[in-house]
Amino acid sequence: MSEGPTLAADPVRWGVLSTANIGVKEVIPALIASHNSELVAVASREVARAQGMAARTPRTRIYGSYEALLADAEVEAVYIPLPNALHAEWTIRAAEHGKHVLCEKPLGMTADEVRRMIAASQANGVLLMEAFMYRFHPRIQWALAQLAAGRVGAPRFVRATFAFDIRGRPENIRLKAALAGGSLVDVGCYPLNFACAVFGGAPRTVAARVDVSEESEVERTAAAVLDFGAGRWAMIDGSFTLPWHQHAEVIGERGRLLLPRPFTPGQAETIARVEVEDEVIERRFPAVRQYQLEVEHFAACVRSGAPVALPPEEALAQAAATEEIYRAASYRWPR
Ligand SMILES: NC(=O)c1ccc[n+]([C@@H]2O[C@H](COP(=O)([O-])OP(=O)(O)OC[C@H]3O[C@@H](n4cnc5c(N)ncnc54)[C@H](OP(=O)(O)O)[C@@H]3O)[C@@H](O)[C@H]2O)c1
Repeated sequence: MSEGPTLAADPVRWGVLSTANIGVKEVIPALIASHNSELVAVASREVARAQGMAARTPRTRIYGSYEALLADAEVEAVYIPLPNALHAEWTIRAAEHGKHVLCEKPLGMTADEVRRMIAASQANGVLLMEAFMYRFHPRIQWALAQLAAGRVGAPRFVRATFAFDIRGRPENIRLKAALAGGSLVDVGCYPLNFACAVFGGAPRTVAARVDVSEESEVERTAAAVLDFGAGRWAMIDGSFTLPWHQHAEVIGERGRLLLPRPFTPGQAETIARVEVEDEVIERRFPAVRQYQLEVEHFAACVRSGAPVALPPEEALAQAAATEEIYRAASYRWPR
C-alpha cells in the first residue's frame, strides 16, 4: 500500500462540506494524495455518513453540520460539492468565516448569485474558484495553447457535447428543481465552458432549445448555438437521456483539433488529434489525476497568494451565458 505523498512543510488544511459522491470518489482521495493539502474536517447533515470517512483518515474531524465545520479555526479552505441550489449560500458563509472556497460547478445558479459570491470572497480576502477540474488536465491546457498559437488557424467553430442517461435514478439531485438540477447546468456546462475558453470570453448572443417533459421536474436535454462575434460560433449540447458520450472539436481556418473524452478522461492515456491540411498528428498524454492537479493548484494559490487559474469572473460569464441559453429556450430558470 502506498505511504502517500511527502507533505509540504505547511500543507493547506481543508474541510469538505457534505459526503457528496464526487467528494468521496474523486476530490477527497485527491486531497489525501496531494503533496500540499491535508484533509482536516468533513461535515455531513448525518454525522454517521461522515464518520464513514474517518476510517480512511483517522485524524479528520467529523461535524454533524456545515456551520460547525466553518467554525473550525484550523480549516483554511473548503471544498463545496453541495447541490447546485446551495452553492451560493455556503460559499458566502464560508467566505464570511475567512475560508478559501473551491466550489463545484455551476458556481452559482445565476449571474447575480455569482456576483454576490465574488463580493463575499473579495470582502473577506479569500480565494474563490469554480471546480472545472478538466481545465487542469495537461491535454486541455496544451490544446488551448495550440489554438491560441494558431496551430489550426483562427478558431471558427466549436462543437462539444457531454451526456449520460440518469433516467433510472429519479432521486438524483440533478433531476430536482428545488436543488437547481438540469442538464445544462450539470453536463452542458462543460461544452459551454470549453467554447468560452477557446474563444476567450462569453458569447454575444445565443439561440437555444431545451427538452422538457411532464415526466421530469427539470430540463433533461439542452442544445445551443453560441455566437461569439466575427464569424465565431459554437454548437453545444448536453443530455441526461442519451447514452454516455463526450467529445470536443475545434475547426479553425487551416485545420481542426479533436479531443475524444475531453471532460472526464479517467485514469487513462488521452489523445489530441490535430489535422492541418494533409498533416495529421496524434499527440498522446499520459494518465493524470486531474482532480489532484486542481486541488494542488488551489492550495498553491492559497499559500502564495497568487490568483487562481480560473478566475471567478470566468464563472460570472459562464453563469450569464447559462441564463441567456435558458432565456433563449423560453425556460424559466431557476425553476
Ligand atoms: N467536477 C466534477 O467532476 C463533478 C462531478 C459530479 C458532480 N459535480 C458537482 O458536485 C455537486 C454534487 O454532486 P454529486 O453528484 O456528488 O451529489 P450527491 O452525491 O447527491 O451529494 C450531494 C450532497 O449534498 C448534501 N446535501 C445537502 N443538502 C442536500 C439536499 N437537500 N438534498 C441532497 N443532498 C444534500 C448531502 O451530503 P450530506 O448529507 O453528507 O450533508 C449530499 O451527499 C453538484 O454541484 C455537481 O454539479 C461535479
